[in-house]
Amino acid sequence: MKKNILIVGGTSGVGLELAKHYVKEGHNVGLTGRQNPELEGATFQKFSMTDDPVQLALDIDQVLDGFNNVHTLIYAAGFLQRGHIDELADDQLGTMVNVGLLAPMMLIQRLKRRSDHPLKIMLITSSSQYTPRELEPAYCATKSALGMLGASLVRDKSLGKVLVAAPSGIRTPFWDDTEEDTETMLDPSWVSEQIVELSGGSFKYKFAKLLRDPARVEVVETLDDNLVTI
Ligand SMILES: NC(=O)c1ccc[n+]([C@@H]2O[C@H](COP(=O)([O-])OP(=O)(O)OC[C@H]3O[C@@H](n4cnc5c(N)ncnc54)[C@H](OP(=O)(O)O)[C@@H]3O)[C@@H](O)[C@H]2O)c1
Repeated sequence: MKKNILIVGGTSGVGLELAKHYVKEGHNVGLTGRQNPELEGATFQKFSMTDDPVQLALDIDQVLDGFNNVHTLIYAAGFLQRGHIDELADDQLGTMVNVGLLAPMMLIQRLKRRSDHPLKIMLITSSSQYTPRELEPAYCATKSALGMLGASLVRDKSLGKVLVAAPSGIRTPFWDDTEEDTETMLDPSWVSEQIVELSGGSFKYKFAKLLRDPARVEVVETLDDNLVTI
């Protein structure tokens, strides 16, 4: 069945690979971000998140008005932010919380209200969800919270399947403007393939780590007791 798939953070890296996959499969794909990747067959909506939560709410309403009847939300937006907590300015902390947590919460809240079918949710976190890092306090905190958001939403019987995918380092524009050696990092198309594979079949909740060196998938937790097949 043809699905309406909204990919927030679908303009680059893993989100863009997922968009290409689902367009190829014939689904109706809407993607958001700040730079239009001009992906044929997908609709793009500009959606730029800052530290302003009021503007965020308005922009989310606009995105959802422009892409109706969402069956699947893929939340792939994220950005690198390094620094000790005292080195991060208020606006930097605010933007991290908005991108990492408030936006996915508001999207799911609104989509559930608008939807007459159980929403399928795919959240991309990070190894920072479960690995504390000195120089990524806000990033680690929001990724960890995003994972817990997914695990908690599973308890809501009127929502569909929830996949939380936590990848290790991936070779994407995420690392632009850094000196980081990305050579041994995961290939974004491989990460996308694993996420597609993990999201298929019947389950209510799945939490999986996508690890590197060697590239492999570890399914940490699956809940099947409330089978949902959408
Ligand atoms: N790369 C890694 O090593 C790695 C490792 C673990 C987890 N992750 C996570 O995996 C996900 C995908 O990352 P990626 O590697 O594919 O990175 P990427 O290529 O940089 O893509 C990130 C996406 O998020 C969007 N985005 C970032 N900040 C935004 C903002 N303020 N407002 C609106 N959109 C924003 C970007 O939009 P534009 O490009 O259009 O601005 C882009 O579509 C992220 O959640 C990231 O945290 C990445």
